[in-house]
Amino acid sequence: MRVTVERLVHLGMGLGRIDGRVWMIPLTAPGDVVEAIPVRERPGLVEARLESVLEPGPDRVPPPCPVYGRGGGCHLQHIAPDRQSALKVAILQDVLRRIAKIEPPPPEIVSGDPWAYRCRVELHGGPSGSGAGLGFFARQSHDRVEPDACLISTPPVSAAIPNLRDALARIRPRGPVTLEPVAGADGRVVVVARGDLGDPGQAAQALAGTPGAVGCLASFRGHGGVHWAMAGTTLIPFPTDDGAGGVTTLTLDPRGFTQANLALNPALAATVRDLAEVGPGTRVLELFAGAGNLTVPLALAGARITAVELNREALDRAGGELKSRGLDARLRAARVEDVVSDPDMRMPPPEVVVADPPRTGMGPGAARALASLPVARVVLCACDPATLARDLGPFLASRFRLDRLVLVDMFPQTFHIETVACLVRP
Ligand SMILES: C[S@@+](CC[C@H](N)C(=O)[O-])C[C@H]1O[C@@H](n2cnc3c(N)ncnc32)[C@H](O)[C@@H]1O
Repeated sequence: MRVTVERLVHLGMGLGRIDGRVWMIPLTAPGDVVEAIPVRERPGLVEARLESVLEPGPDRVPPPCPVYGRGGGCHLQHIAPDRQSALKVAILQDVLRRIAKIEPPPPEIVSGDPWAYRCRVELHGGPSGSGAGLGFFARQSHDRVEPDACLISTPPVSAAIPNLRDALARIRPRGPVTLEPVAGADGRVVVVARGDLGDPGQAAQALAGTPGAVGCLASFRGHGGVHWAMAGTTLIPFPTDDGAGGVTTLTLDPRGFTQANLALNPALAATVRDLAEVGPGTRVLELFAGAGNLTVPLALAGARITAVELNREALDRAGGELKSRGLDARLRAARVEDVVSDPDMRMPPPEVVVADPPRTGMGPGAARALASLPVARVVLCACDPATLARDLGPFLASRFRLDRLVLVDMFPQTFHIETVACLVRP
């Protein structure tokens, strides 16, 4: 069918209409006239695939990656980079209007380099249905595409792809494996390896010895659960905001969460600190604190922080980062859902809440408990606008108003949208 794409919507889909039915077509751009083939039909909705572009829209550009459209990681390379963030703003506004039922404030945009930004990627390999190589999962499947470079990855991570593929071929894993090259601010790569690598110690040595790599952490199942074989250097330097708009460097364990866009991370952390409006002595309850990427900037700006994080190792690392800067915070290794209603967490009551939950969001229970606290300001980070819109609900129902919205474009060429939202209550 011939479809004209009106606009881009959630998950980077192009939306068009035929006879009152909505067509959703990936890999299209606003203004495109395309030939599309239905793949799934539901009442009022056709999910389709792009067969060919009949007339390109004004934002369409030739995608530079040779595996674009086949790989699962990039969804927007066919759209001019300088237009992507404006289209993401429109998607964010659309999602907030539909799900949170609010008219959001105009989103501000913070952006960086649209290419060569990812400091970690997940590569899949080992003997599987599709050979014994190493590459990315293909779109909507666990088949692999095996490029020799990745244009959205930093040069060290991109260069690691063929090197790790060669090393893996020599290791000859016994089952499916995942290799994650993670590059720090110094450009050196630590490899996190998971799966059935055979002898984990030998595998760690081999992977740590690939060109550009300085170390490897290889997991294996043993007595009492998962263990790690280590070779070489296994920590990475990672930049964050220094509490005043400059940069301070954390030392992170790549097995735990790190932001994927290293260059833009200080700006993300500075945005959170700015929206939190912390000053000396401000009492902050920080949820989903990880290894202190936001904790350290907030503490450097003078905040008195209670930080909650599930991963004890990450939280210990945050504690070490604070201590090495002569800072202190109350650190609690626990599930956010379990502690937000704890009276102990409410004494003394925080003035500001900062939350950076995983993609699934904080959930309605935690949001309701937080909205019942006598706080005047809540800063919420989200990497999915739909999840953000749902998490906002309990706050909006408790007299909070969405004051500022900042789209930090951490994931160019993909449909992912990182947002920092600031809620205030009179
Ligand atoms: C998106 S990361 C943010 C980490 C940190 N703010 C940063 O910028 O690096 C989310 C963090 O939430 C933690 N987490 C996930 N579910 C949790 C839960 N239910 N309770 C507490 N922490 C959780 C994860 O371990 C992870 O460190």
